[in-house]
Parts: sequence; structure tokens; C-alpha cells
Amino acid sequence: MSVPSRLRLGVNIDHVATIRNARGGDHPDPVRAAQIVANCGGDGITAHLREDRRHIRDEDLARIQAATDLPLNLEMAATDEMLAIALRHKPHAACIVPERREERTTEGGLDAAGQHNRLVPIVSALADAGIRVSLFIAAEERQIEAAMRLGAPVVELHTGEYAHATGDQVAVELRRLADMAALAAKNGIEPHAGHGLTYDNVQPIAAIPQMAELNIGHYLIGEAIFCGLEPAVLRMRELMDAAR
Ligand code: PXP
Repeated sequence: MSVPSRLRLGVNIDHVATIRNARGGDHPDPVRAAQIVANCGGDGITAHLREDRRHIRDEDLARIQAATDLPLNLEMAATDEMLAIALRHKPHAACIVPERREERTTEGGLDAAGQHNRLVPIVSALADAGIRVSLFIAAEERQIEAAMRLGAPVVELHTGEYAHATGDQVAVELRRLADMAALAAKNGIEPHAGHGLTYDNVQPIAAIPQMAELNIGHYLIGEAIFCGLEPAVLRMRELMDAAR
């Protein structure tokens, strides 16, 4: 797989909906966030429809799709309910994530190796519908191999452990991500990355040559409270470009 020239930035707008839902009304609207991202050079919108609908809701998906031309990357658990929703909305991409109702965010990657049989029909139904399938996995060889067996065209490497690492462990986690991005690309799988990325830690990940896309949410929406969403996205874009 050739090295992608431009690293894409997908902006995860879930937490605009988290704030909206806190008051039960319709403000702030994640659709407005998607439009701002589209107007300031974001490459995609990422949204996670969780089982408990704690942020993005079903009706948001169609509204986001209607409001911008940017590709929608739907993060979804490997359940029949989510598969049916994905097939109805036909997003550009679907990223299969692990989901436990009680967790605060997506902790740990999908066990693509252990859940092969559960994932086969979901991956093939999505692929048959023309949806680009991504698996959100830990940067581990066995998970990349499982993605290969499943025929997934994309893996999104979980950067949570890198983001939370301190001291010498940062370099260890970074090496693991770089090695697994290279392994994925060597086997024809496009590597993406996400979770916990900030202005301070994004550049070493953006510098991994095979990396094609980063999906960033919580930090950008948090920064947007202080400086606005457009400046936050532009600053992240600038840091990513400078690292290439
Ligand atoms: N990618 C995936 C697959 C995710 O589930 C999430 C949210 O947990 C993100 C990227 C964005 O992570 P964050 O909100 O920490 O930037």
C-alpha cells in the first residue's frame, strides 16, 4: 500500500450532542458542528451511535448526512441493531468498536481475534452494502492478523494507551503503533488512529508515514468551548500537517 500524502482528519462530534442532551433540547446541535468542520477543512465526520444513545441519536445521522458532503464514519458496536441502522443510512464508513454500556468511553480495542465468528456476518453485510469497514483494535499483531482474516480494508489503531502513557512508556507505545501501522499497510489494510489525541500528543502519531486518517473528538470539542470549533480544528490540522 502506498504512503498517503495527506493525513485526513475526521472530527468526532459526539460530545456536542452530549452537551445538547444534558438539557434535553436541541442546542448545541451536532449538525452545526458538522457544518463548521466541513467549512474549515475537516475531512470527515465521525459519530458513535451508542446503545444507550447517550450522545448521538438515530435521527442525528440522517441530519448530519443531509447537512454536509463530508464522508460520515459511523462508529458502531457489532450488534444486529446497529448493523440494521448502518444498512439503512449507508454511511461512507463504519468503524466497529467494542461497547459496554457502563463504560465512560470506548475502553480498549475490539477483540477482532476472539470475536471472529461474531464479526464475519457483520463485516460482510457492511461491505456488501458498499460501506468501508474499519475495526477499532489495539495495536497488536494478532488483531491485525484477525482484521486480515476478516477482510477489513481499514483498521483504526487505539491510541488510548499511548495518550495515557508517561515517561519511557510513551516511546514504547508509539513504537507499537508505528510497527502495527506498517504491518497493516504492508498487508493492504489502511491504518487510521484515534482516541485521546490532543495538540500535545498528536504529532508523533501524525508522523507515522503509513497513517491515513486520525479521528479526534473529545479534546477538540473541549477546546472549542474556549476558542471555537473552527480555530480548534484548524490548529489540529496545522499540527498534523507540520508533522508529515
Ligand atoms: N476513534 C474511535 C473508534 C472512538 O471510539 C473514539 C471515541 O472514543 C475516537 C476515535 C475519538 O476519541 P477522542 O474523543 O478521545 O478523541
